[in-house]
Amino acid sequence: MFNIVIFGAPGSGKGTQSDFLVKKYNLVHLSTGDLLRAEIAAKSELGKIAEGLIAKGEFVPDNLIIDLLAGTIDKYPSANGFIFDGFPRTVVQAGALDKMLSERSMQVNIMLNIAVDNDELVARLLNRGKTSGRSDDNLETIQQRLKTYEEKTMPVIDFYDKQGKNNPIAGMGTMEDVFDRICQAIDKVNA
Ligand code: C5P
Ligand code: MG
Repeated sequence: MFNIVIFGAPGSGKGTQSDFLVKKYNLVHLSTGDLLRAEIAAKSELGKIAEGLIAKGEFVPDNLIIDLLAGTIDKYPSANGFIFDGFPRTVVQAGALDKMLSERSMQVNIMLNIAVDNDELVARLLNRGKTSGRSDDNLETIQQRLKTYEEKTMPVIDFYDKQGKNNPIAGMGTMEDVFDRICQAIDKVNA
């Protein structure tokens, strides 16, 4: 069992790198953003709550997102491990993830903290917005998402730092270069 938290600002490449990781390590990719967008598409109660918050670049309440994730983990009893993408986004969620994993005899094995310059993040998200159809890939919401990230999500770095699990990854450059750095960090932890 090898569980990864892939961490970084919106546009840092978490989804892209998760796709590479799934192929190489045969893990289950759990993107809470994707799960929420599926709830919106299904017009569920949670989807109705999430829709407006996502469009504004704000977070769905911790308890709802924690329940969503716990329910999803239990759908994969024979997984080799999980990649948590877009979760935890708050320190409360980080504590809840530790608890839900330990209740299932698992733990976070590594946190990959992908760093990308702010100008590059904005450029990537605006570019993605041309084709993503996402309600939040526009300049106003992008700026709010980066602000929310700084205020609510950056403190999560300290949470994993204290556990010795924070691995800074330089996220500029090509997708392949970033993936090489990620694999080196994983190999070190597995060695
Ligand atoms: O991870 P992603 O960028 O796809 O998330 C899109 C949006 O989904 C976030 O900006 C936020 O509004 C919502 N979200 C959330 N809580 C999470 C993950 C995503 O509220 N843990
Ligand atoms: Mg994503």
